[in-house]
Amino acid sequence: MSSDFLIAPSLLAADFARLGEEARDVIAAGADWIHFDVMDNHYVPNLTAGPLVCAAIRPHTAAPIDVHLMVKPVDRIIPEFAAAGANLITIHPEASEHIDRSLGLIREHGCQAGLAFNPATPLAYLDHVLDRLDMVLIMSVNPGFGGQSFIPAMCAKLAAARQRLDAYAQATGRAIRLEVDGGVKVENIAAIAQVGADTFVLGSAIYGAGQASDPHRYDTILARLRKALAALHPA
Ligand code: DX5
Ligand code: ZN
Repeated sequence: MSSDFLIAPSLLAADFARLGEEARDVIAAGADWIHFDVMDNHYVPNLTAGPLVCAAIRPHTAAPIDVHLMVKPVDRIIPEFAAAGANLITIHPEASEHIDRSLGLIREHGCQAGLAFNPATPLAYLDHVLDRLDMVLIMSVNPGFGGQSFIPAMCAKLAAARQRLDAYAQATGRAIRLEVDGGVKVENIAAIAQVGADTFVLGSAIYGAGQASDPHRYDTILARLRKALAALHPA
């Protein structure tokens, strides 16, 4: 189990009229990364924002921007997101005709590469690409919308992914992050960390927390999440 937990608020649940400020505010409140969901109304049944919007947010924060591409075809848009300031780019295997090539493209453009697994997508896609990866993303909801419930069977999947990544780290000395996305909240984050996730995407649980009029609402929710995670590693 890793102790360096990272929290990546998803802008999908933020106020889209104020994305720069929303990114700044969660980082100021102690979040680690900004998660940027890209949906194309084709690979997933929703439409969000492209590289222009990512580039507009980039000057608002020094924190890493974690771009989650739910887009098919995916290769053409990868260099555009790299140029728009993405630090990590994650793709879905079903959205790429040539997964090894797409992952290579991400690194060629100077970003860290992630591979995302929908709830029913087998981990076998990891078999031949671990050297190409900096992160594995386990989707704990079906992609396309925020505010859905965590699918409990994803705990066993996270544990299986953790085993693979630990074996890889032991063999190579290189750590690959294990990110979870969908339905994570204060009530379940510790249990999800317990089965091996080290990087947590939260949309509605962070941006929907508290009253919009409360200027400290992001500090409060981030502190609650950190406390839940800290309980796993008593000093
Ligand atoms: C879903 C997106 C998620 C989404 C998570 O397709 O990939 O990043 O924003 O939202 P919550 O945390 O509300 O489930
Ligand atoms: Zn996402």
